[in-house]
Amino acid sequence: LQQEALQKVDQAEDLKQLNEVRVAYLGKKGPITEVLRGMGKLSPEERPKMGALANEVRESISSKIEAKQAELEEAAIQKQLEEQSIDVTLPGRPIYSGNHHPLTRVVEEVEDLFISMGYTIAEGPEVEQDYYNFEALNLPKDHPARDMQDTFYITEEILMRTHTSPVQARTMKKHQGKGPVKIICPGKVYRRDHDDATHSHQFMQIEGLVVDENIRMSDLKGTLEVFAKKMFGEDREIRLRPSFFPFTEPSVEVDVSCFSCGGKGCSICKKTGWIEMLGAGMVHPNVLEMAGFDSKKYTGFAFGIGVERIAMLRYGIDDIRHLYANDIRFLKQFSRVE
Ligand code: PHE
Repeated sequence: LQQEALQKVDQAEDLKQLNEVRVAYLGKKGPITEVLRGMGKLSPEERPKMGALANEVRESISSKIEAKQAELEEAAIQKQLEEQSIDVTLPGRPIYSGNHHPLTRVVEEVEDLFISMGYTIAEGPEVEQDYYNFEALNLPKDHPARDMQDTFYITEEILMRTHTSPVQARTMKKHQGKGPVKIICPGKVYRRDHDDATHSHQFMQIEGLVVDENIRMSDLKGTLEVFAKKMFGEDREIRLRPSFFPFTEPSVEVDVSCFSCGGKGCSICKKTGWIEMLGAGMVHPNVLEMAGFDSKKYTGFAFGIGVERIAMLRYGIDDIRHLYANDIRFLKQFSRVE
């Protein structure tokens, strides 16, 4: 019986068969249980002998089963490892990371430049008071120049700011008549324009303001020259043209020499060799006085940069609406790797 059982254990090919062998020989209905159950019928001399023998046989079979079980389990694990092994040579799946919006990139670059020149970043509300958007900037209620900026009014006194210039007035007021003031303010602005390739009812500006003693037009020009060279290349030049803004006097429009044709004339600069870049000027004495600054002691300059314009020229974007459509195919082109 023992021989037969041990052989069966050996032959078991898997855990299921092994369990069947266990049940057959060691189970409640198995031959060993039967022998032990029949012990009562034996004589007192035979009983210990038979008991010892039966136990020995049971021990030997069950230890054999245990060994076999360990062996089969090990084999099963081995088999699983072989079948489910990881192919480390398979290429990984690409992970798409997001990237900054082209407008954010331009803003951050301009911020970095001006921070390096000692400016701080200021902010102001997009829903603004008529007072800061217009009146404090030398544009009283009936001023015809208000028409230059088609305004989204919320109430008679509250509006969506049409430019970032109200932050000039707010910042100067905070300084309580004491210079120096040296800030830039990037932000969204709103105008009642019909959207097309070059107009958007919402767009971005970066305002700049410096107020101190002895600030001159040449400081403005030098600052904007640094800006143009940094943004568009060291070989760029700037040109100031007389212009008009109620809050600056004198006022200028600033052009940068064309960086596509190198000044020879192309479709981007409309063959003029120059590209209009921003509005600027010396802070109007009325604006200084309204904000609590002594205009005899202090002078200043201000400028307003159109962020979309810079982004479009830099990245060759032909329609301003691309910047607001949030088409992932468009946005994906502006990863940091250039
Ligand atoms: N706020 C003007 C505009 O939106 C730009 C500007 C800013 C002009 C600062 C002069 C000084 O067009």
